[in-house]
Amino acid sequence: MKTKIKIFITAISLTAALFSAQNGNIKKHSLDLDGASTNIKIQPTMYGIFFEDINFAADGGLYAELIKNRSFEFDEPLTGWKQPNTKTLSSNLDSGFLTIITDKSKTNKNYARITVSNHKNYSLENEGFRGIGLHQGENYDLTFNVENISGNISAVTMSLMDENGFVISSASTIIKGKGWQKYVAVLAPSKTIEKAKLQITFTGNGVVNMDMISLFPQNTWKGRKGGLRKDLVQKLYDLQPGFLRFPGGCIVEGRTLAERYQWKKTIGKVEDRENLINKWNNGFSHRLTPDYWQSFGLGFFEYFQLAEDLGAEPLPILSCGMACQFNTAELVKMEDLNPYIQDALDLIEFANGESNTKWGKIRSEMGHPKPFNMKFIGVGNEQWGEDYIERYKVFEKAIHAKYPDIKIISGSGPSPDGEFFEYGWKELKKLNAQIVDEHYYNSPEWFLKNAGRYDDYDRSGPKVFAGEYAAQSVGVVKPDNKNSWLTALSEAAFMTGLERNADVVTMTSYAPLFAHADGWQWTPDLIWFNNLKSYATPNYYVQKLFSNNKGTDLIKISENGNPLKGENSLYASAVKDSKKGEIIIKIVNTNPKETSVEINPKQIKFGSMMTKITLTSSGLADENNVESETIKPKEEIQTIKKGKISVDIPANSLVILKIK
Ligand code: AHR
Repeated sequence: MKTKIKIFITAISLTAALFSAQNGNIKKHSLDLDGASTNIKIQPTMYGIFFEDINFAADGGLYAELIKNRSFEFDEPLTGWKQPNTKTLSSNLDSGFLTIITDKSKTNKNYARITVSNHKNYSLENEGFRGIGLHQGENYDLTFNVENISGNISAVTMSLMDENGFVISSASTIIKGKGWQKYVAVLAPSKTIEKAKLQITFTGNGVVNMDMISLFPQNTWKGRKGGLRKDLVQKLYDLQPGFLRFPGGCIVEGRTLAERYQWKKTIGKVEDRENLINKWNNGFSHRLTPDYWQSFGLGFFEYFQLAEDLGAEPLPILSCGMACQFNTAELVKMEDLNPYIQDALDLIEFANGESNTKWGKIRSEMGHPKPFNMKFIGVGNEQWGEDYIERYKVFEKAIHAKYPDIKIISGSGPSPDGEFFEYGWKELKKLNAQIVDEHYYNSPEWFLKNAGRYDDYDRSGPKVFAGEYAAQSVGVVKPDNKNSWLTALSEAAFMTGLERNADVVTMTSYAPLFAHADGWQWTPDLIWFNNLKSYATPNYYVQKLFSNNKGTDLIKISENGNPLKGENSLYASAVKDSKKGEIIIKIVNTNPKETSVEINPKQIKFGSMMTKITLTSSGLADENNVESETIKPKEEIQTIKKGKISVDIPANSLVILKIK
């Protein structure tokens, strides 16, 4: 409650400030739209997606696996598992027990040995990722590996149970033969449950080994077995993103070098991918998530495939030999950097090489003989200082020597200004870096004030990738941050400035992307979900409106000859879509009163109709939630009279005008 009041007060004071800045005089705006070419193209990559496995974005989220710790690989091998009828030592001995066996020669090292005694139906339970989400009417593939060791365990029964322990679907399998065998069953729950459990019950007496106990919906994105959660991918698809950056984020760097993201360990057979603790497991003491690991079921092959499905350019980011500088800041010595560079070169071959190359062959065997045609690669995530520049130079030289056409993304650190930022930019410019990644997590006020940030950037220097940004309603990494309308509106205002500078800014992405309602560490986030449903935030709709209406060429919109970057609380940018024969104007009004705008065309003739899309909400603290998306775009058709547009722009709104 306290938090809500605080956000509300911030929202009121911000609007009051904006309002008083113009002494309460709401003027009618007369804007000039110049149809003449600016010779500035909007790059197809202008609006993209930043994906990181934070907030249960991959395991527990996009990767549709429903069993947590399916092969007992977590540090605590029984995380997520319970032995419900073995609560006391005596009952444990009575019905059976479980031990973990470790085979260090394997990447999937652990498996469970289950000893069942006295015909007492020993059972095991898995809790899923904060519960198992099940939809009535859908089928679920259950698979597990069993090795029959001794005695006579005749059957294994797999049951899905609701929150009260009632069985809502169940299947039994006869255990037979020797050696490891894969068993398969299909379960069809009789109810929709957000937090179900899986129970495994053993019949008979004896000893078996068990591993890779897995449950997937059949209804995944494109119906792929072991695939991705459909509603979540659909939300990404609807953004029409220009690129997909993966796998992060700080997760690329790791808390230590040993815990960095190593793409080679994430390809090949899913059951052989070595699990790793997730960097965000204990990232914040206020949101500890001890049950957060990476199964890498969503690995580099799947990321490339996802990018392809979305029609987005794949943009992998790799470790440059520096662990997260907010954590250990562990550094690889320059003389030991080679394996890291080799990883980058091999990745390009994995993505783009023909099937007769070493890594291209692996991609091909995984089911994608055609190259992925990757064009970008990131060297390091959010590094700063001399150590970074020194390492970047070596990567750049090696990558461009072998692959001169690959565009390299370099980084300017975690802040949009300050000593490290200035140093990074200065050095990267000297090195003729191609695209520099900038990150800004800041207040809504900062976003409103910075719509002109790129107006004075050097046009002959590197291009900018606004790779991570989001307005923070309370403060950076504050758990009370909300995806409020105020944050979304301020991002929209700022984005007109990104678009207006499309000759410098060629790639942009909001961050982070996903958050599980019960498993998050970082807020705000673009898309929220629970085990059954997902919803789009107002920030998502801002991204979607810009991305779906990015056009192909920048044109000029001005008031009294000046760009609209916040004076009188008005922001605007305009593009042409030469393929669709459309003009698209984006206007953001951060005034708490409606305003009226007249648009005078120059060197251009408007048709007689236009589409007006409005995104607004009456309260700046308003949010969407899983039950209702009250803040979403509304579309209407309006007539254009006498070749001039006269349009009302509601208080605190983003309006898109599309004119043929
Ligand atoms: O988006 C969350 C984190 O913010 C990213 O992992 C990191 O790059 C940045 O500090």
